[in-house]
Amino acid sequence: PIPVIIDCDTGVDDALALLFAVRHPGLDVRAITCVAGNTDVDGVVRNTLTVLETAGAGDIPVARGAERPLIEPVRTASHVHGQDGMGDLGLPAPTRRPVDLDAVALLRREILASPRPVTLIPTAPLTNIALLLRTHPEVTRNIERIVFMGGAVEVGNATPVAEFNVWHDPEAAAILLTAGVPITMYGLDVFRRVIVPAADVQRLRGSSDPRLRLAGELLAHRDPATSGDPTPTGGLGDAGAVCAVADPGGITTSLLPVEVSLAPGPTRGQTIVDRRPRPGEAEIHEGERELRMVDVALDVDVERYVKLWLGAVEG
Ligand code: BDR
Repeated sequence: PIPVIIDCDTGVDDALALLFAVRHPGLDVRAITCVAGNTDVDGVVRNTLTVLETAGAGDIPVARGAERPLIEPVRTASHVHGQDGMGDLGLPAPTRRPVDLDAVALLRREILASPRPVTLIPTAPLTNIALLLRTHPEVTRNIERIVFMGGAVEVGNATPVAEFNVWHDPEAAAILLTAGVPITMYGLDVFRRVIVPAADVQRLRGSSDPRLRLAGELLAHRDPATSGDPTPTGGLGDAGAVCAVADPGGITTSLLPVEVSLAPGPTRGQTIVDRRPRPGEAEIHEGERELRMVDVALDVDVERYVKLWLGAVEG
């Protein structure tokens, strides 16, 4: 199996990502690190531990990470994920605690200890990852790829042009994008499209297995009529980024230069994806700025990922 570490801000759809990752036989989840985003970092830790316990994966190490972005204040998404970050479903508190290491230390330890290069899957603001890359740059030698949920080629959600995870900590995203490791951007353009059909959601909700019931309740939570988020009920959201690691053939990507707007004002946090035809360079210099090429997901096979996710979670 592929060794992976998920950096998350659980979060309704982060939970859907975790439920999939721990069940898919092709993935070996070495650790999970938590960061402030959808809710405060202590809420993220609690939600993550509860999801893992419900999924029967309570032995995966979980670490608490950054409680705020590098420069911005915390701006949680309770309008989308509920006050507790998990749709206010009244879930039980976890019985165990996070490890004694902070997220950066756990990431470093697990990346360097892995016999095979690790794939990182951030589904959250990129604060922990930026701190890791700046504090322990040697980890890049054992990172296979970073597949992150974030950014948008077209329309944003936090602002007209910026996607939430990048907008929440734009400087951290800029550090990630210039890290010099292979990167796949699983952005809003594909994120919004992978929807589990209503009949499958109902079947999960009606299950007697708490793990499957949780999956169903989380999928049903997103109601565009009440959440202020246009993602339809049944959206897999962040889980699609994990599908893209388990089954990369389900997305169509193009290698394109991506830059984050760090300017104050209405473009802050926008990912500017240069879709003009370019020869195949690994990096591009625009004046003073060095731009890296990123594999940007432009299309997704929706049916394939829905089947993949259901197959692993229900299997
Ligand atoms: C991202 O923002 C969060 O609300 C979701 O969990 C996802 O990671 C989408 O913009």
